[in-house]
Amino acid sequence: MNIVLGVSGSIAAYRAADLARELMRQGHTIRACLTDAAQQFVTPTLFETLTGNPCLIDAFDEPETGRMAHIDWARQADLILVAPATANTINKLAAGIGDDMLTTLVLAATCPLVVAPAMNPQMYANEITQRSLKTLSARAVAIVEPQEGDVACGEHGQGKLAPNSQIVDTVQAVLASSRLLAGKRVVITSGPTQEPIDEVRFLSNRSSGKMGSAIARAALLMGAEVTIVSGPVQIAYPLQAKVVRVGDAVQMLEATINESAGADIVIGAAAVADYRPADPVAGKMRRGKDNITLTLVPNPDIIAQVARSYPSACVVGFAAEPTSDLSVAMEKLVRKGLFAIAANDVSAPGTGFDAEDNDIALIRRDVAPVMSGRRSKLACALWLLDNLAR
Ligand code: C5P
Repeated sequence: MNIVLGVSGSIAAYRAADLARELMRQGHTIRACLTDAAQQFVTPTLFETLTGNPCLIDAFDEPETGRMAHIDWARQADLILVAPATANTINKLAAGIGDDMLTTLVLAATCPLVVAPAMNPQMYANEITQRSLKTLSARAVAIVEPQEGDVACGEHGQGKLAPNSQIVDTVQAVLASSRLLAGKRVVITSGPTQEPIDEVRFLSNRSSGKMGSAIARAALLMGAEVTIVSGPVQIAYPLQAKVVRVGDAVQMLEATINESAGADIVIGAAAVADYRPADPVAGKMRRGKDNITLTLVPNPDIIAQVARSYPSACVVGFAAEPTSDLSVAMEKLVRKGLFAIAANDVSAPGTGFDAEDNDIALIRRDVAPVMSGRRSKLACALWLLDNLAR
């Protein structure tokens, strides 16, 4: 695998040389990139000699004339490892700053990222650094936590770069998970549906599409080809996913059936309206003095129809049900003919509709349910796909 090793300016930078050697021993190709501060501790020549590849140091470095190295390397990388990662580099990565070759390269990459912090214990404990690490974790960046011990500046505390063996193990685990869905096609329904009452009004719900987007990102990180069939949402989906936009449930059904042909996994994360107005009014309904009655008819059950149409696909639904009582979700699993159902309590504070976190119980037939615990939606999505893929 192609690994970019980013080295930032910590005294632990000297250990990056051994890391490069160990990763090469495991069969990986290493390309190193040093920040300015890293060059106070180690030299590009060291890494060029060790790896047999050019070492990037400046944002405008072009080892191959006419090719933008930050884009080329980012495209070709299977993984980027930043070790050691200083507070400055971590805070820049979390904020999306690209003011040197390493941070620009990370911004341009879509591959998994592993970060191994090393710094003074106060800088590690600093609220901003901690917030940045949380931000990176929520984006599925694997953090190899520093160890507690005596650090170079004479203090004792957490900040020592983790042992190289631990960093290498994390890299191997992340690379393994990045191949779990390689060659697989994943289709995800996402967001709400809008059921027209007339040409300007509709019935809908609070679904944001965040869970569908998280599943899409997780599937891409695990190497899948991803299609999202989405109702109207504000959020941006990952650029590498194919997105088919629909309005109402009937359109979502047609698009999902079309897109699911040949798919390996279909996940119903959309909050499909259960009913739609029977006769949407042409133009705009006028205000009057009398009560009006809206007749609603049931919408098709999209995920159930996908499960019936494609019996060999792994079809997974979501159930907005309390995880304390899984009987209703279990009944849905059977009634809809699904392979699995992910139950999540949308009424719990901080999780569910439009929230950043989720808390899932994954239910399969004849297997005891497993719980994700409260995590970011992306972490939940990675957990869910990991469980399904294995
Ligand atoms: O029955 P309920 O709406 O709780 O089922 C939820 C699951 O079924 C979700 O995966 C949702 O995307 C899917 N669903 C669907 N079509 C519907 C209703 C729900 O695909 N009409």
